[in-house]
Amino acid sequence: MAAEAKTAPLPPILLPRFWRLVGKTVALKWKYRANPEKTYGAYLDEYYNTANTQNDVAYYGDAWHEVRSLVVSEAGLDRGDTVLDVATGRGYQAAAFAQRGYPTVGMDLVHSRARESRSQQDDEALQWASGSATDLPFKDNAFDAVTISLALHAMPPRERLAALRELRRVAAKRVVILEPRAWDWWPAKPFYAAMGHVMDESLFFFRFAMNDLDRRFSGIGLRLLRLRRCYVGDILAIYVCEPM
Ligand SMILES: C[S@@+](CC[C@H](N)C(=O)[O-])C[C@H]1O[C@@H](n2cnc3c(N)ncnc32)[C@H](O)[C@@H]1O
Repeated sequence: MAAEAKTAPLPPILLPRFWRLVGKTVALKWKYRANPEKTYGAYLDEYYNTANTQNDVAYYGDAWHEVRSLVVSEAGLDRGDTVLDVATGRGYQAAAFAQRGYPTVGMDLVHSRARESRSQQDDEALQWASGSATDLPFKDNAFDAVTISLALHAMPPRERLAALRELRRVAAKRVVILEPRAWDWWPAKPFYAAMGHVMDESLFFFRFAMNDLDRRFSGIGLRLLRLRRCYVGDILAIYVCEPM
């Protein structure tokens, strides 16, 4: 069985450690502000490996623990369906699919993250790989479902679109996406986007939050079946799509 995700004792926002991480994140983003599109890979590498943020990030374990099983349920998969979890990070979402019996591959751009996942999540139904969401090393329709959580918002807009196209290409029946989504009430939208731009590790958060992700779907051949808001304050959304 996969190891239970470790979670912090209190909601992160109540811990001084969370605010220290926000401070370090802001400082690192400032360093990369000049050309974020070009330097985003190096930024991620530094964020996850060397910037002294990694211990704080790891401390929270899976801060999003409560939404993992919801993503699996919303995916609406059939017994034995195969899953690819792109940008898997420490593999928590991949492990949630594997725990429910779906053979799952977790893949991340940062090699050390795929390695960490391998050591952290131990389940026979899980495999790991490294590679970019924008160039998936799999054939068309290779998996029944392709999932991505909390990663599209961190990509430069052009890569995000390329990644969405790749998710659609290798998915035979479902693409399931979990990402931040601004509240619909218009005065709240820029507030959400600005807060996230400061606190989140993404260099592109403001623009991402101001433009609803689902507006992109039909142009790349995805039909939105369901959109479910989730997590505290409904700050995240699960998008369940099928290839057209
Ligand atoms: C905030 S973490 C989310 C990890 C995981 N999906 C989760 O829900 O916990 C974002 C992850 O996306 C990965 N990532 C970013 N750009 C990527 C790309 N182009 N291809 C694959 N992984 C990428 C990062 O290395 C990082 O592990």
